[in-house]
Amino acid sequence: MESIFTLILLISFINTWDSHLIEAKVFMVLMEEEPGVSFKTKQAYRWSDEDVMVYKERVSSGHDIFLQSLLQRGSYTKLYSYTHLLNGFAIDVTSEKVLNNLQNAKGVRAIHEDVKMEKFTTHTPDFLGIPSGVWPTLGGAKSSGEGVVIGLIDTGINPFHPSFSNQSSPVNSNGVLTKSSKFKGKCAVGDQFPPTACNGKIVGAQYFARAAIAAGEFNTTRDYASPFDTDGHGSHTASTAAGNHQIPVISNNFNYGYASGMAPGARIAVYKALYAFGGYMSDVVAAVDQAVEDRVDILSLSIGPSSVPAGTSSFLNVLETQLLFATKAGVLIFQAAGNGGPSSSSILSFSPWITSVAASVTDRRYINSIKLGSGQSFTGTGLAPPTDGEVFFPIAAAIDVCETNTNTGLLTVDSCQNTEPFIPTLVRGKLIICTYTFDFEFETASIATVADTIQKIGAAGFILTMNPDVGSVQIKGTTATFRVPGIILNNMQASSALWDYYNSETIRSSSGRVVDFTATARILDGRQAIYTGQAPVVASYSSRGPDVNNALLQTADVLKPNIMAPGSSIWAAWSPNSEGDQFIKGQDFALVSGTSMATPHIAGVAALIKQTHPNWSPAAITSAMMTTADVADRHGDPILAQQSNQLSPATPFDFGAGFINSSRAIDPGLVFHTKFQNYIEFLCAVPGVDDMSVRRALGVGCPNKRKAWCSDLNTASVTVSNLVGSRKVIRKVTSVGNGNETYKVNIREPLGVKITVSPRVFKVSKNAITVLRLVLEATEVTNAYTFGEMVLRGSKNHVVRVPIAVYVGSSLGS
Ligand SMILES: *[C@@H]1O[C@H](CO)[C@@H](O)[C@H](O)[C@H]1NC(C)=O
Ligand SMILES: *[C@@H]1O[C@H](CO)[C@@H](O)[C@H](O)[C@H]1NC(C)=O
Ligand SMILES: *[C@@H]1O[C@H](CO)[C@@H](O)[C@H](O)[C@H]1NC(C)=O
Ligand SMILES: *[C@@H]1O[C@H](CO)[C@@H](O)[C@H](O)[C@H]1NC(C)=O
Repeated sequence: MESIFTLILLISFINTWDSHLIEAKVFMVLMEEEPGVSFKTKQAYRWSDEDVMVYKERVSSGHDIFLQSLLQRGSYTKLYSYTHLLNGFAIDVTSEKVLNNLQNAKGVRAIHEDVKMEKFTTHTPDFLGIPSGVWPTLGGAKSSGEGVVIGLIDTGINPFHPSFSNQSSPVNSNGVLTKSSKFKGKCAVGDQFPPTACNGKIVGAQYFARAAIAAGEFNTTRDYASPFDTDGHGSHTASTAAGNHQIPVISNNFNYGYASGMAPGARIAVYKALYAFGGYMSDVVAAVDQAVEDRVDILSLSIGPSSVPAGTSSFLNVLETQLLFATKAGVLIFQAAGNGGPSSSSILSFSPWITSVAASVTDRRYINSIKLGSGQSFTGTGLAPPTDGEVFFPIAAAIDVCETNTNTGLLTVDSCQNTEPFIPTLVRGKLIICTYTFDFEFETASIATVADTIQKIGAAGFILTMNPDVGSVQIKGTTATFRVPGIILNNMQASSALWDYYNSETIRSSSGRVVDFTATARILDGRQAIYTGQAPVVASYSSRGPDVNNALLQTADVLKPNIMAPGSSIWAAWSPNSEGDQFIKGQDFALVSGTSMATPHIAGVAALIKQTHPNWSPAAITSAMMTTADVADRHGDPILAQQSNQLSPATPFDFGAGFINSSRAIDPGLVFHTKFQNYIEFLCAVPGVDDMSVRRALGVGCPNKRKAWCSDLNTASVTVSNLVGSRKVIRKVTSVGNGNETYKVNIREPLGVKITVSPRVFKVSKNAITVLRLVLEATEVTNAYTFGEMVLRGSKNHVVRVPIAVYVGSSLGS
């Protein structure tokens, strides 16, 4: 074992940081010594699990000894030792002097300031409804994903939810599945997390909160010192990836359908590192380290940084490099693209070893309608039951059925947040008009409370109109479910037409008091989904490419996002505590949106591919999903993307390779392989990244023979961020189909680029590799990205599609 340590470099590479920018007290420190995983994956050192455990202990106590010898007692707290993927620690320091000491210490490779992480859920779906529409039941639901463990770095899990009940899975006495015996997760017990929570469906559950505690943001009463999900986000993502099959979605007494994870037979390992308030990278890094040590097959991260991290390159921050080591260990990494769309380069998931997931709106809509006594009718939203029978009920403005001399103020009356001012005899049997005011925007008022008030005062229902000053762009809480009839008239025209009707019909005395409520209406059922049959559309909030090399947003030769899945208005499991989202408090299911929701769809599909092809590498599985993705609908029309104000045909910067097609992804015909060493070569070609920055970030330097371009990485896409003259791009495809197949290569050239490819026809046998040589030649300066594709059509019906994105610049460095 000792000989290994001679490999260790004794030079100290320290990240420099701007000391007056320091706000966080927590830092992640990487050491020069190697982490445990190095010895598991290096051919020469295939250590046993015990060897790795011994090494882990030694690394951890080594950190303690190092710190004790270097720093004054009481001047720091070590939060974590990272031992598996990284050799380093997270430390909470009390002064800059401590940092300086660390900076100058021998054995320290790099120091990174901790940064905040966010959940990628959004509460502002553009049109309400429109969930996945399908919870595909692939390959016999219950066993789909069998033997695969999906790890989720998220807000924890609600173990009491039916989506996670034990459906008599084969487990041994430790609650660990036997079929996939390589998984060795632990189950922490604590608040709302009894020993029985790990039931064979949930096979591991731990939580990581030390940085959140150090920051003073963790509140035990609210956030629970256990893997229990007090937010809802983690239960939602876990059930989307691997929730049980055919679980009735019941919210406020109504069955909205049945939910099923993408891989109902897969097992769930929970690593809670995010909270209602968000979280910290150093907790997330600890969670990832543990998950890979536990040997999950797949990691799903519906989280990311709030902006591009500072530093030499977006690919070299601690989390990105750690995830590179995770792929080296064979773990598939999926991450939400971010919710910064539709502006370009809003992507928050950067590296080519990560599969970044975009979100789509699909064809399900929830539309509610109101019919007025005048014969007019309007549509709006509201997951609410209808008014009784075909009866028209009198309607009344809140202000007209309230005490006028109460001290609750006019606004509160309008927004129906308080039962007190309402006059019981006047409200009974009426539909009450309430107004969506700025209080709703500032979250001091909520639509859920409107429904609550209406129920308590015994009115027939509510009509929520828009305040012209607020407008109707982002209405908060429209995806909450209600027990009382109600409609949200989420457009100004409908709102003002309703008021016109009410004012013209209502008879008032000379003092202005209503003497007769003669305006009437009935509200229809808003809980019935409508399926439009429309193709998926890229959601406006879904973060867009091009990918960026750094915080200066210099664009990279990497395609981001990679793939798209449903993300808007997804029904899935929730946690009734719902600390992060007051609109859905108390519910077991929630309809929410975001790239957070799209990501576990892809993680689940990956489990099905992994089950079918256990030996495929992470890069091969990503390649399989990308090359088979749909870019057109059933009629051959292109998939569209929501931009700021219109729809336009989606580009690879909107949806990557396209919308996931799980049945085709299982049988892709050809795959693009990439190894760890290729990623190092990639990093060494990133503009502004030198040998030393790679060495600092990864502990290994660049090869002597360097690749010229990042576009040389063998991915299932070709992105050239600045084409001047011509560029040669090599791609190697490996046949994974059965028997021999002949492929024909077709290119659709991007505007301003001529592409030649050879060979144009090739024959492959199983496992054979074919080298494709592409030459991209600029023919016209576009000063904009233009898009094309390479399509390989096999004689056995495989279609392998490779998106091409090129920017023809006028000169180098432009
Ligand atoms: C799961 O359910 C089966 C059948 O009901 C039972 O035999 C098994 O002990 C359960 N497993 C756990 C870990 O509770
Ligand atoms: C912690 O959370 C509880 C419950 O939400 C709250 O009542 C309490 O004030 C919080 N404590 C602190 C210190 O913020
Ligand atoms: C997936 O691909 C198959 C085969 O080309 C096609 O029939 C199907 O419509 C595609 N889409 C989905 C969602 O399965
Ligand atoms: C595939 O092609 C090789 C030669 O290119 C041939 O030897 C082999 O028999 C073929 N296999 C099948 C299943 O046709």
